[in-house]
Amino acid sequence: MSAQKKRIRKAVLPVAGLGTRFLPATKAVPKEMLTVVDRPVVQHVVDEARAAGIEHFIFVTGRNKGVIEDHFDNQFELEATLSSRNKTKELEALLADLPGAGQTSFTRQQAPLGLGHAVWCARDIVGDEPFALLLPDMLHHGKTPCLKDMMDAYAERGGNYIAVSPVPEDQTHQYGIVGVEDAKAKVSGITQMIEKPPKGTAPSNLHITGRYILQPEIFGLLATQERGAGGEIQLTDSMIKLMAAQPFHAVTFDGEIYDTGSKIGFLMANVVYALDREDIGPQLKAELKRLL
Ligand code: G1P
Repeated sequence: MSAQKKRIRKAVLPVAGLGTRFLPATKAVPKEMLTVVDRPVVQHVVDEARAAGIEHFIFVTGRNKGVIEDHFDNQFELEATLSSRNKTKELEALLADLPGAGQTSFTRQQAPLGLGHAVWCARDIVGDEPFALLLPDMLHHGKTPCLKDMMDAYAERGGNYIAVSPVPEDQTHQYGIVGVEDAKAKVSGITQMIEKPPKGTAPSNLHITGRYILQPEIFGLLATQERGAGGEIQLTDSMIKLMAAQPFHAVTFDGEIYDTGSKIGFLMANVVYALDREDIGPQLKAELKRLL
């Protein structure tokens, strides 16, 4: 099996960001722990990765993020109490959410130098194998989990993958943007990439949605990556360099994406995920109708 087709076992989740767009809620609570319905945002993203077959979760954390580590650990007192009260269903649901023993790793990004730097902080834990990268702010709501679609494409062709989705032209400057060979295809070769292009210069309206499959050669490039857009070490800039040596494919995500780091995105995610739920969906729908 070629190196670029090795099985993907590990996922990196950068969770060091300060969450300044969500103050004061994020003063003491990490933004990744804010809940969409009754699950922390980061749990939704771990759910997506597990559904795609990921076995090991590498969290790149920072100061004040310890509660994320606690969330993905057993909580003995709580579990014992649920058990003694015969709350079997609740206990089973709680345990089912947990990655198994030895399936999580935590490392720290000591300074907020950018996404590229955060990913580079995971290099020793990832080692010399391809990996998935999921940006927890971005919730992907579709029929199949976004990363699963990407894993399927990867299993066929190997190489590197980036999930993309169209955004309105007036928003392209807020994202990484890719140009593709065939904008209508579900999976297409990437021809160009640019991080946060100035208004009016984007090569397309396809934005990078925060799901990636990357080959380990990215780490060597990140190690010497100079600062880019916003004065930060940008992952996109190293991916552009890797694209000269390895194939990159875009996978168009078929669904809605909610940026839970923005207030509207967070609120919309709560409404949409709640409407999906059998236990509260119908009642919420009726209440929303009444309200509007
Ligand atoms: C990062 C990536 C960008 C991508 C975005 C998705 O930017 O650098 O390419 O489009 O995530 O959320 P950030 O949101 O960290 O500025």
